Amino acid sequence: MSTNATRTVVITGASSGIGKATAAAFAARGHKVIGTSRNPDSLAPADRVPGVDYRALDLTDRASVARFVGDLGAVDVLINNAGESQAGPLAELPGDAVERLFQLNVFGAIALTQAVLPGMRERGYGRVVMVGSMLGSFPMPYRSSYVATKAALRGFATLARFEESPFGVWITTIEPGQIDTGLRERRTKYLDEGSPHTTDFTNFMAKLDQKQGEGITPEKVAKTIVAAAEAERPGPLYAVGSNAPLMFLVRRLLPRTVMEKLIAASYGLKR
Ligand SMILES: NC(=O)c1ccc[n+]([C@@H]2O[C@H](COP(=O)([O-])OP(=O)(O)OC[C@H]3O[C@@H](n4cnc5c(N)ncnc54)[C@H](OP(=O)(O)O)[C@@H]3O)[C@@H](O)[C@H]2O)c1
Repeated sequence: MSTNATRTVVITGASSGIGKATAAAFAARGHKVIGTSRNPDSLAPADRVPGVDYRALDLTDRASVARFVGDLGAVDVLINNAGESQAGPLAELPGDAVERLFQLNVFGAIALTQAVLPGMRERGYGRVVMVGSMLGSFPMPYRSSYVATKAALRGFATLARFEESPFGVWITTIEPGQIDTGLRERRTKYLDEGSPHTTDFTNFMAKLDQKQGEGITPEKVAKTIVAAAEAERPGPLYAVGSNAPLMFLVRRLLPRTVMEKLIAASYGLKR
């Protein structure tokens, strides 16, 4: 994205955390920013970024997605950021919760992407950023549904960028590590009463929440997102937070089974 050009940037989930910080970063650079929230009218002043045009969007509701897309107009940059964190042993995850998570984290983002790609291609310029998760690249218990949604997003992005890049439209995935936002307080958790996973799950979640509380700021992630969007030829994958360069290097060097053991140890689990 040329630093001189004023672009129209759409950021889903711009009312808190990474999305809000990203909205602030793009707005500060003079771009026209459309941010979304399920309830823009009831956002507290502290949840709004000045100058951002907040619009209603509930990604779990197909009618809401269609309404939002219908009113959009030309979009140069789409940041698919909105998402929910979910945790629980696979055997105990309710089917409707998994479906809702995929609707929010994957299908909603893909519907938005499909809506903006043709216009981007016609205008010869476009950037789509999928906010995935570093967990999508590392093994971890009790996060299978969440990680599956993030791996799905990355799969769409990694393959579709081959299709669109000849037209000046670049699709990219950003994988944040542990980031200190309110996501962990809003995480949905599922564990059966008397579950055989109770002890491990409880210990793991406490450690995960602690690590997230010690994570980097959402502003640092926003900086990476803006840099990716502004690159002449954005790369396929950017990771930020949780010592990403070191972690990805270790992952390349070590056998997967050793990596599993290291991660288990860092979360106090015996594997
Ligand atoms: N925090 C981390 O450690 C971390 C790490 C890796 C990846 N990520 C990813 O980064 C993204 C942002 O996370 P965050 O930590 O900034 O979370 P957050 O503070 O909880 O923000 C989530 C945003 O998503 C929106 N949202 C929630 N449900 C929605 C729905 N049904 N439809 C549309 N929008 C919805 C919320 O807006 P309203 O409530 O106003 O609708 C909110 O603005 C997520 O995709 C998350 O998976 C986060």
